[in-house]
Amino acid sequence: MSKKRAITRRDFLQKTAAASTAVYGLGASAFSSAGASSRQASPNDTIVFGLIGCGGMGASNMRSFMGHPDVAVAAICDVDSNRIPGDAKAVQDKYGKAPDIYSDYRRILDRKDIDAVIVGTPDHWHALNLIHACEAGKDSYCEKPISHNIVEAKAMVAAAKKFKRVVQVGTWQRSNREFTDAIDFVRSGKLGRVVLTRAWISDGTRIGKKPPTAPPANLDYNFWIGPAKMVPYQDNKVHWNWRWVMNTGGGLTTDWGVHMIDIALLGMSKGQDLVMPVEIATVGGQWAIRDDDRDAPDTITSICRFTEPDFALEWSVGRDHPSRPGHGTEFVSEDGRTLRVWRGGWTLLDADGNELPKEQAPPAPTDHWRNFLDCVKNRRTPRADLHSVAQTTIVCHLINAALMSGDTVRWDKKKMDIVGGAGKNTMAYSRPYRRPWSLPMHGI
Ligand SMILES: NC(=O)c1ccc[n+]([C@@H]2O[C@H](COP(=O)([O-])OP(=O)(O)OC[C@H]3O[C@@H](n4cnc5c(N)ncnc54)[C@H](O)[C@@H]3O)[C@@H](O)[C@H]2O)c1
Repeated sequence: MSKKRAITRRDFLQKTAAASTAVYGLGASAFSSAGASSRQASPNDTIVFGLIGCGGMGASNMRSFMGHPDVAVAAICDVDSNRIPGDAKAVQDKYGKAPDIYSDYRRILDRKDIDAVIVGTPDHWHALNLIHACEAGKDSYCEKPISHNIVEAKAMVAAAKKFKRVVQVGTWQRSNREFTDAIDFVRSGKLGRVVLTRAWISDGTRIGKKPPTAPPANLDYNFWIGPAKMVPYQDNKVHWNWRWVMNTGGGLTTDWGVHMIDIALLGMSKGQDLVMPVEIATVGGQWAIRDDDRDAPDTITSICRFTEPDFALEWSVGRDHPSRPGHGTEFVSEDGRTLRVWRGGWTLLDADGNELPKEQAPPAPTDHWRNFLDCVKNRRTPRADLHSVAQTTIVCHLINAALMSGDTVRWDKKKMDIVGGAGKNTMAYSRPYRRPWSLPMHGI
């Protein structure tokens, strides 16, 4: 890390102290050390980034980091050359020096001057990008959902642990005030004993119907498909739209579920080691949108049963929710009160749906990107630590596994694995990698 900026040690310690007390009453144990770094960073160091995937969220994350004074961006990478110029210009404008440009992310990982990478690729690439970054000694800000399946998630956690890397996942709701306030309230016991949680998303996206064609010259489609199954190129199935195609995404259960279910799990847990369901049953399918190339289900209802404590989680994907926001998370207590939270606020309702008064909330947390920068320097566990968001991601994959298999799926938290066969024979659990790619398992 280079020493370019002037932030004092006192500023830094004040900021990290605030980060460790403001968020949903997490105690010191939840912010314990991520392990000694191969680089011993000083608070005055600049963190030098490389960006992998210059799409919507990669670009947005890079700009969020560039808003902090102790950041530099040295390199950016995409397999589509058309996606590079906007981000290259943003870096040039900010720092007066253009970033180095690559099409193969492994060349970014080769560089000794780069401390951390932003993984902004589609879901089917996260596992390889992240594991290779860990092996190369880079810390990572990795987009959600962390993986395309459960086995990948476990391999990613194993790699981060083995190479002692700090990884923050892009579940930024963990750093947004409406969610941290709501989680604080539930954890404080003020809502009483919670027996039911709900999370939902309403969406009806279509990607249309397009015939297969040759890929455009600007896109290395073979690299874009990477470890996923090779399928003919269709231009409505790549950028952004890959999330509606189960070969490359997981549909709304991983896309939005990982945000909204995350809040339910955090509220019901004591720290970052999350409660996990013991049984998962799901029904649904592509029932509403049939004349379209998407294959992600548009209608889903899933029930997850938890013990210790006993409660249920209902996850639903649908096309409308007339009596509530289009997405959200709810906690229902034994006395019928409901805490509802969404991007925009949270509210407390009595059993008849009347709004109840709320208390003065605790101070807002530092932003999600600042939290990562601080943790890279102090080697503490970030707010959306990989292990923790892996648990949420796995719950989403279990919901998909139950849907794909048509069976009730059982999970063993200690073994971190599905019990029995139901769900194991699905793409949400694992799949073979397309050569020459292979998933480094790191002992799992
Ligand atoms: N945290 C959030 O709120 C949020 C919001 C949107 C998206 N996301 C996540 O961000 C990720 C990216 O989503 P998006 O909507 O920006 O997708 P996108 O399709 O717009 O961008 C992905 C980019 O990655 C590039 N790419 C693909 N494979 C690559 C590789 N191997 N090496 C380098 N570049 C590669 C693509 O060419 C593309 O430019 C996804 O995991 C998504 O779930 C998170």
